[in-house]
Amino acid sequence: MNQTDNKPTPSTAGSFAAVRELFDNYVIPTYGRFDLAFSHGSGSYLYGVDGRRYLDLGSGIATCALGHAHPEIAETLAQQSQRLVHVSNFYYTEPQGRLAQALAGLLGPGKVFCCNSGAEANEGLFKLGRKFGHDEGRFEILTATNSFHGRTLAGISATGQEKVKKGFEPMVAGFRHVAFNDLEAARAAVSPATVAILIEGIQGEGGITPATPDYLLGLRALCDEKKLLFFMDGVQCGHFRTGRFQSFQRILEGVPGGERFLPDGVAMAKSLGGGFPIGAFWVRAPYADLLGPGTHASTFGGTPLACAVALKVLAIIERDHLADNARHLGAWLKGELARLAAAHPRVISNVRGLGLMLGVELAEKIPAFAGNAKAASLQFVNRLHDLGVLTIPSGAQVVRLLPALNLTREQAEEGLEAIEKVVKAAAC
Ligand SMILES: Cc1ncc(COP(=O)(O)O)c(C=O)c1O
Repeated sequence: MNQTDNKPTPSTAGSFAAVRELFDNYVIPTYGRFDLAFSHGSGSYLYGVDGRRYLDLGSGIATCALGHAHPEIAETLAQQSQRLVHVSNFYYTEPQGRLAQALAGLLGPGKVFCCNSGAEANEGLFKLGRKFGHDEGRFEILTATNSFHGRTLAGISATGQEKVKKGFEPMVAGFRHVAFNDLEAARAAVSPATVAILIEGIQGEGGITPATPDYLLGLRALCDEKKLLFFMDGVQCGHFRTGRFQSFQRILEGVPGGERFLPDGVAMAKSLGGGFPIGAFWVRAPYADLLGPGTHASTFGGTPLACAVALKVLAIIERDHLADNARHLGAWLKGELARLAAAHPRVISNVRGLGLMLGVELAEKIPAFAGNAKAASLQFVNRLHDLGVLTIPSGAQVVRLLPALNLTREQAEEGLEAIEKVVKAAAC
């Protein structure tokens, strides 16, 4: 199948209003959606139901790692679906075993549990922590302010942002938040009930803030000293987005002691299936059998179909050197965005991130945005929509670029050109 042969489905072609009406009438309105409906995609391009083409620099929030409608993923889905889609986890299947082997090979000695989403992967880590400390009455997990760990009840309890908790109190007991990148705050927060610390290597929803090397190494030492498990949420920042499999591997490159660093658990999802739903968590060897038979399960966790796709995504990333592409193209893009920020400090105040996980922080009070009640990030993203480019807002001030790992230089230039136009117009 040729990636450019994709055509809109006739049922929705040209009718945003018809799709919107279906949502208004039948879909629970939990999302603030943009006025865009897509019918199909090809590589880093998405096509609206009206036929308009968009350059996708969001990739489903760091999910479609190989872009849209990748022919080899489509072929893997077709082939595996004709062989075996699902059997209960009462039984063994080879793809799940091979995916677990591959993920452990990328992290370190340990084992993997397969699930379906990032929230579910984190839930598994929460249960692992509770099991670890259970006999000593320890259960508390420290997480960071501005973090994001999913929308289940435990997920919003773990998330260090008030907006996700509001209206759903009381929270699940046993989560406390401490300032990110502040080792002393973490040390001071450890109580006799504390059992684990969970952080993102790069906070995604919180505005693209990488952990510092000292923080990572310091938390590892603190966890060893206090007998705590050290968990990392790699759901958004993982899967080669930074140029290495996990962001901590990239952050600690060249840092003395960095090569020996390993957390005790890592949550994965999003890019793991390249758009097909799958999550997983890896547990370091000493703790890998703590969750024994009967302690944890998921009907759809690790189906042969999902695991075959995830294995194919990994194989393509490796074969096509996409980690290097993320590293080098990301560095170039970041440099260009920094140049833009230097030229227009009244519009862009900062550019952050690693590889193809970049955050453009907008300046406070951009005059051209005044008089519009919408957050600056939304206004910026909307203006890019008008130019045919998709990006992801993060809070009120940050616009995220999380494109497919196989984005080309030409596509990055196309996106940059649009961003430059929006910045220049806003600077007037
Ligand atoms: C860091 C992080 N953890 C967890 C999640 C939740 O993942 P999911 O939406 O697959 O449950 C997200 C989603 O954005 C995330 O960014």
